[in-house]
Amino acid sequence: MEYNFDDIIDRTGTSSLKWEKHEGRDIIPMWVADMDFKAPPAILDTLQQSIDHGILGYTVIPDGLNDTVIAKLDKLYNWKIEKEWILWVPGVVCALNVACATFGGPQDKIVTTSPIYPPFFAAPENCGEKLVTVPMIDINQRATLDFVALEKELKENTGLFMFCSPYNPCGTVFTKKEINRIVDLCAANDVVICSDEIHSDFVLDKDKCHIPTATVSQTAANQTITLMAPSKTYNIPGLGCSFVIIPDEDLRNKFKSRLQGLIPNVNLLGLFAAKAAYKECDEWLSQLIIYLRKNRDIVQDRVSKLPGCKLNPIESTYLAWIDVKDTGLEDPVLFFEQAGVGLSDGNFFGQKGFVRLNFGCPRSVLEKGLERMGAALKKR
Ligand SMILES: Cc1ncc(COP(=O)(O)O)c(C=O)c1O
Repeated sequence: MEYNFDDIIDRTGTSSLKWEKHEGRDIIPMWVADMDFKAPPAILDTLQQSIDHGILGYTVIPDGLNDTVIAKLDKLYNWKIEKEWILWVPGVVCALNVACATFGGPQDKIVTTSPIYPPFFAAPENCGEKLVTVPMIDINQRATLDFVALEKELKENTGLFMFCSPYNPCGTVFTKKEINRIVDLCAANDVVICSDEIHSDFVLDKDKCHIPTATVSQTAANQTITLMAPSKTYNIPGLGCSFVIIPDEDLRNKFKSRLQGLIPNVNLLGLFAAKAAYKECDEWLSQLIIYLRKNRDIVQDRVSKLPGCKLNPIESTYLAWIDVKDTGLEDPVLFFEQAGVGLSDGNFFGQKGFVRLNFGCPRSVLEKGLERMGAALKKR
């Protein structure tokens, strides 16, 4: 079956976070990371069945859901996990916060890299923990970790390293060598790794592949808690369904005890959607990736020609991290909003002079947004 990603679906008046922000103004929302595509038919069918049944009660993990996750991780990464290692939670951000509360002891600090998805900054603070950030560095037009700076920080009283792989906002797909270096540094300093891999299905470069942090060695498996979800991949983020994989029993028990009584179980619709996603939507995902690759190529080409704008090759995600420093714009987000395009502000990710553009939308909408940006920059 051929899926149609060109359809423009009106999201106004649907309480969409993405679309409400600029409600009533002629601004194309290209900010928060949800896509403007319908979820796959198999997911919508299963949700319809639950609605038709009519009783939306408390729910246990549906039969076969864990087995589907186990089979998927084995097929994609040759990662052999056990059922007990999987904990279902209502959000990756929620799991990030629980990780900080569990593994950032009162005397310890938590380390992450910057720029990064803003909840990484907020999570330690939410738990009263100290955060230290290590700036990412560009090497040959690719953002990666500054391992010297990272080692220095990890050596000094660190409980947890929050890693994002693939990387939001810079789009990096990390190599095995890079992941091994992170694991070695964390293991040497007894630092737990929380690896947020929510974007793992969006590798756009054909010659790259996602490597789960926990798979690079036994040490990595013992030291890592992995966060994954069907939410970004199948465009169901509003259903609040994600999972944590913790192979090490001691880390798992600590994490689990923090969840008790505070974090609700995942709701019925989220769990059934996850099962349909992992069981029946491979073809939809393959076609989506082909569509996003083409969108990525358009963004890469057009944005690099806009006056004062630069961007590295986008290896993964449907997010373009654009350096607009050379435009000299004091407030680039306001400028582009006035031109009719709503972008994310680099300041929130910890990097001034950058904007983030979400290209998970029908191609005609993307083209219109890029034209508006280009026309506004040329008119100044
Ligand atoms: C790196 C990363 N982690 C987590 C999330 C959100 O996860 P959730 O909606 O499951 O809390 C996002 C959303 O953009 C993200 O980019």
